Amino acid sequence: MIDTTPGGPDTRRRMSIMDKLVALCAHRGFIYPSSEIYGGLNGFWDYGPLGCELRTNLKQAWWQRMVREREDVVGLDSSIIANPQTWIASGHVANFNDPMVDCRECKRRFRADQIAGEVCTEHKKRPLSECPLTEPRAFNLMLQTQIGASEDHSTLAYLRPETCQSIFLDFRRVMQSSRQSPPFGIAQIGKAFRNEITPRNFIFRSREFEQMEMQFFVPPDAAMEWFEHFREYRFGWLRDVGLRSESLRWHEHSDDELAHYAKVAYDIEFQFPFGWQELEGIHHRSDHDLRSHSEHSGKDLSYTDPESKERYTPFVVETSIGVDRCMLALLCDAYREEEVRGDTRTVLGLAASIAPIKAAVLPISKKLAEPAKKLATDLRRRFNTDFDVTGAIGKRYRRQDEIGTPYCVTYDFESETDKQVTIRERDSMEQVRLPLDSVATYLTERVLGF
Ligand code: GAP
Repeated sequence: MIDTTPGGPDTRRRMSIMDKLVALCAHRGFIYPSSEIYGGLNGFWDYGPLGCELRTNLKQAWWQRMVREREDVVGLDSSIIANPQTWIASGHVANFNDPMVDCRECKRRFRADQIAGEVCTEHKKRPLSECPLTEPRAFNLMLQTQIGASEDHSTLAYLRPETCQSIFLDFRRVMQSSRQSPPFGIAQIGKAFRNEITPRNFIFRSREFEQMEMQFFVPPDAAMEWFEHFREYRFGWLRDVGLRSESLRWHEHSDDELAHYAKVAYDIEFQFPFGWQELEGIHHRSDHDLRSHSEHSGKDLSYTDPESKERYTPFVVETSIGVDRCMLALLCDAYREEEVRGDTRTVLGLAASIAPIKAAVLPISKKLAEPAKKLATDLRRRFNTDFDVTGAIGKRYRRQDEIGTPYCVTYDFESETDKQVTIRERDSMEQVRLPLDSVATYLTERVLGF
């Protein structure tokens, strides 16, 4: 059993892994603080060259499983800003609040339900629980903006706090244009924004993030069956992108945890270095959303079964996961340090299908750069390939291990005559010698999982 109480020995050991991961991400080009040269902005992050490759692969793996492999789910890419009525109907204007308190001494703002373990920066870092705090007040988490040329005549609008509301608004259009009928789903990947009071834990909780959501519309009496189907389906996907089953567990929401829209809800939690936390939500939303948007807009969002002539407002089963949070889980699960012949090697054991770089071509000498580059150019047409000619070969292997590249291809002087190269696998470090003309097929079979 792992002790994750704040300050416990296990947390301290694990937090140091978190610190190392944050440093690796900045150093190797995965994730940097946004607008860093101006001191950054709390809750906002930039994804560097390797980070955006990893995100792209992750989103593609999700889209493949949720849309392309299913005949009953279609895609949508809706605008970030919608008619503000949307957020009145969805309940976000009235209910999307966190209780917040201000410390009267250090003036910092905290979530009232998260003050345990926090300290006041004034008065010798006294625990916040012993501090003079303001009474809890409701703080709406939606970020606002103005639309229109002059401030006097502009309209208040919101940056969406979740991607799914447009799926409800476009439900009828999508159903008709794609010739679907319940049971069917609509999937979307896109940015969402929340004015989190305490963004924290790297990219775990940020103010700008990306969601991958799917809303599945079903006849009311089929909702529980589909709910169970998607619980299993989503857990399977998380395993397929490389998360270990021992790092995942289910958490069923109790009555007082349920969101205002949910009837039954399960989180898939991941064991982050800072404890078990929500990674993905699977929600049974009943007919709450379509019914509410229908009432507020005056538009009929019900469905009539052409055979039975039964008319009903479809129930919704939702799966919702953050790209950033999933990426953090993958990085945490993949990070390891190994002792190899008296040396420590850092490895990101990412699944080959989502690794940012699939193969690195490494000529053993600068004199072999030209023919090796030819091989790299050929591989690049199939998947993301790196080419690195500088430094000792051992160091180049380590560099690739650290960013999760599953295969290194070494081109040596013998390659010139025997037309073969050596392929080294990241985890086992085992090497095989293969004919040059079979390298592309050998690697393609192993790196393109989705
Ligand atoms: N449509 C339902 C919905 O948005 P949620 O539980 O509020 O449900 C779903 O969010 C997922 O979005 C979470 O499980 C998490 O992965 C991600 N998420 C939510 N807030 C986030 C934040 N501030 N930063 C990063 N990811 C976030």
